Amino acid sequence: MNEIVLSGIRSTGNLHLGNYLGAVQNFVKMQHAGNCYFFIADYHSLTTHPTPEDHHKSVKQVLVEYLAAGIDPEISTLYIQSDVPEISELFLLLNMNAYLGELERTTSFKDKARKQPENVNAGLLTYPVLMAADILIHHADKVPVGKDQEQNLEMARKFARRYNNMYGVDYFKEPVAYNFDKELIKIPGLDGTGKMGKSEGNGIFLADDEKTIRKKIMRAVTDSGPTIENSKMSESVNNLFTILKIVSSADTVEFFTGKYKTCEIRYGDLKKQLAEDVIKIIAPINSRIKDIYSNDEYLSRVARMGAEKARTSAAKTLKEVREIIGIRKFY
Ligand code: TRP
Repeated sequence: MNEIVLSGIRSTGNLHLGNYLGAVQNFVKMQHAGNCYFFIADYHSLTTHPTPEDHHKSVKQVLVEYLAAGIDPEISTLYIQSDVPEISELFLLLNMNAYLGELERTTSFKDKARKQPENVNAGLLTYPVLMAADILIHHADKVPVGKDQEQNLEMARKFARRYNNMYGVDYFKEPVAYNFDKELIKIPGLDGTGKMGKSEGNGIFLADDEKTIRKKIMRAVTDSGPTIENSKMSESVNNLFTILKIVSSADTVEFFTGKYKTCEIRYGDLKKQLAEDVIKIIAPINSRIKDIYSNDEYLSRVARMGAEKARTSAAKTLKEVREIIGIRKFY
């Protein structure tokens, strides 16, 4: 039997090169092997109270960018969480067996509560329950997520087990994390330290045009250059080389590594080359983003198709879950 792979995508912010090389590219490859469900977790985004315009815009942007990056809506089931009301109902039912103490103890809840003390809403508290509903509704086997989501996945397993025990059934499967963090190099940012993120001056986005990419890379933080042969690279220069190793040819990497070792390197040349090689990856995605973004008819077709496929699977689960619980109709 085919394994079911499922992942949720938070609809906050545009995808950057790190997201693409670290995760999205894997989703694209993965979709050919199995039964994949990818969805935009738009309910989860509401915990931060975006304006209606911002919310809708970011859901659209994420949908467009995943399509542009190569998620094929004919092969995968690509849908928007709020288009599948069965998820909300399963969330409600799972909440009956989720305990205040354990929810309060999760690291992500404690983090958020610390970061936004003025908005510690119940949605934050029950975030792992909604995530469990997302996963269990399709009986997912594998959930490709980053390290930061492992605890949420552990909770999903706990809720699945608890439901099975409570009703004496072997109904829900326990989903496992499919962690590609270990296999993959982290993509560093352009500001000299740490990984690529959304902060200003640090990231290159799939939605950036060529001019912007060149400008960002030319401005990337470096140092004053090597003066001693074979010296160790500073973090900022090492970061540029890390990206170069991923996006450029072996010859290019060897050329600039050699120049560095003999102290002949000109960071301007390195950056120019890096920019061209990054553009080779991003430009085709970028032009698809533009096309897809303005094609509302296509987007509506994709969203409808995804919702239909997802609801077929979700409705079956929910019917069985209700039956097991004893929710039976009188009419
Ligand atoms: N919490 C995930 C994140 O922040 C997004 C998400 C929501 C998710 N529901 C999910 C991921 C279900 C995997 C499976 O990235």
